[in-house]
Amino acid sequence: MTEEKLIKSDERVKNLGEVFTPKRIVDFMLDQPEITAKINELSATFLEPSAGEGAFLVELLHRKIAVALEVSQNADEFGDNCLIGLSSLYGIELMEDNIEMLVMKMSAAFNMDYQEDLKKFSGQVDDKVIRSAMVIIQANMVNGNALTKLDGDGNPIIFSEWKLLKKKGKRQKVQRLEYTFQEIIDGVEKSSGKITPEVQEEQLDLFNFLDETYQPEKEVKPVPKVQYVPCKLTDIYKKETKEA
Ligand SMILES: C[S@@+](CC[C@H](N)C(=O)[O-])C[C@H]1O[C@@H](n2cnc3c(N)ncnc32)[C@H](O)[C@@H]1O
Repeated sequence: MTEEKLIKSDERVKNLGEVFTPKRIVDFMLDQPEITAKINELSATFLEPSAGEGAFLVELLHRKIAVALEVSQNADEFGDNCLIGLSSLYGIELMEDNIEMLVMKMSAAFNMDYQEDLKKFSGQVDDKVIRSAMVIIQANMVNGNALTKLDGDGNPIIFSEWKLLKKKGKRQKVQRLEYTFQEIIDGVEKSSGKITPEVQEEQLDLFNFLDETYQPEKEVKPVPKVQYVPCKLTDIYKKETKEA
């Protein structure tokens, strides 16, 4: 068995509290019945505001894809369900080297599980699934500070909601909507109204370490949000936006 590397340096432990969680603890926590119940709901969201290299998020992804396999009848449905499971996982991480590893590990886990489990349906790998997964991972794994709610460039952290639309044809469609992290925490305002109560109920914060009384030192300017057009899950990679 390979030894897990849980600490990068004493300095980082001191400055960032950076100690990664061992796999057995991750498994123990994710095996709790209330967490398992949420994993079994493919679109129930998880946010890890101190994601590190993804000890929790990568394992959550493996488990969501296992659920996708169970509930799918064919290769197309499996591709859609893998993307739904993936789009429910969000992370924030302060350190650039950690976020790079996080993105790499999420991508590798998705590609490996999707391609391996697809064999059950004797299906061809759909390149659009892989490309759309990469866009979702890039959007959902944010390099930023969960306390100031600013990203690495000093702009407000923005998350995408991947809202599933009522299914009409064979393929599931999605509306990508953007919110600042501040808006999500505030309970949740956006240009077109409020996030639905169902969405709020589904949110699960793995590490609710945020200090509610924390105030950023300077006023953060609102940032314009991108208006995406509704599309099939497998067309997310196109990132098509509405004309201004
Ligand atoms: C104790 S480690 C846990 C990492 C991961 N959750 C795990 O279980 O392996 C804490 C992580 O939070 C990050 N971190 C520290 N302060 C942060 C902040 N204000 N915003 C976002 N991430 C932060 C550190 O870089 C570190 O990767």
